[in-house]
Amino acid sequence: MSDLANRLNQLQTDALAALAAAANAGAVETLRASLFGRSGRITVLLRGLGAVDAGERPAMGKLANEVRSAVEAAITERLATLRAADAGARLADEALDMTAPGRQVRVGHLHPTMTVDRDFREIFHAFGFEIFEGPEIETDAMNFEALNIPPDHPSRDLWDTLYVAEPGVDPRQPAADGTILRTHTSPVQVRAMRALSPPIRVITPGRCFRYEAVDASHGFEFFQVEGLVVDRDTSLADLKGMLEEFARALFGDATKTRFRPGYYPFTEPSVAFDVSCLVCGGPGCAACGRSGWMTILGAGMVHPTVLRAGGIDPDEFQGYAFGMGLDRITLLRHGIPDLRLLMSADLRFLEQFPGGR
Ligand code: PHE
Repeated sequence: MSDLANRLNQLQTDALAALAAAANAGAVETLRASLFGRSGRITVLLRGLGAVDAGERPAMGKLANEVRSAVEAAITERLATLRAADAGARLADEALDMTAPGRQVRVGHLHPTMTVDRDFREIFHAFGFEIFEGPEIETDAMNFEALNIPPDHPSRDLWDTLYVAEPGVDPRQPAADGTILRTHTSPVQVRAMRALSPPIRVITPGRCFRYEAVDASHGFEFFQVEGLVVDRDTSLADLKGMLEEFARALFGDATKTRFRPGYYPFTEPSVAFDVSCLVCGGPGCAACGRSGWMTILGAGMVHPTVLRAGGIDPDEFQGYAFGMGLDRITLLRHGIPDLRLLMSADLRFLEQFPGGR
């Protein structure tokens, strides 16, 4: 065999061995350049073909082509192998350990009072009530006078009021414009009547404030939900039916209810509404003062003076209203002994009531 043929064969052997040893794509590319580049070994050998005898030239040309294609194919193959291995290595690096313990995500939850608030909204929504909210900062005129409580009326003693004082003035002197923190959600009754026209069915949840000495059952800040229905031929029977259904929806079907006479200046007649004790269920215990009953709200037929304050003709329409403390119902629902815990923001307490999200 000619010298050229030997060199071609040797070149192929060397190239394949070098390829097999190339550890990465970069090494393969360097090798490719050293073979096929301008002064690469194959380029140089092919250039030498011109000097071969005319008789040998076809056989040499054929061999040279075979060597070139063999080396090119080997390069392509080696690159593919290296890339596949590379991707495999990257995957192995990124692999998820499905057996590793997950990281715990801490999700908060609603405050127990807000869970009760959500329940109220849902229950009254089902009865066709809409939400109507009023301001926490009210005027004496709305909080009292529009509700049939004139200045100096003795019933004002029922609501110890936080007055907003003028800047620089003795804080015990009420602001001249009568600005106060609302003591109940009842002024929203009048706001709703002025904003809507009958038939009206609203609940008005919100925060209220009273000048209270704080203890286990009194706070200076608390939540109420007011309900108001105004329509033709609305009666005390409608009010009773609604509240009985509400109590069963909130506390369960076994709940017993009763109405007692009550007094509010803005309803006539007025009632107090009791449910069978949520702790003992009736026989009497410490939580219900041995009576077997718990009072959860006040209610009554909207006083004609209040309807008029809301721009509604009492000869044409009647209404009923009820108001209750959300915090108190939260205490009853969970058997919580002290109202102050609800405002404490103590997670050891709050986390016991995972309720709603
Ligand atoms: N506003 C009353 C209170 O704060 C509750 C109430 C509302 C009573 C509506 C009757 C009708 O005690």
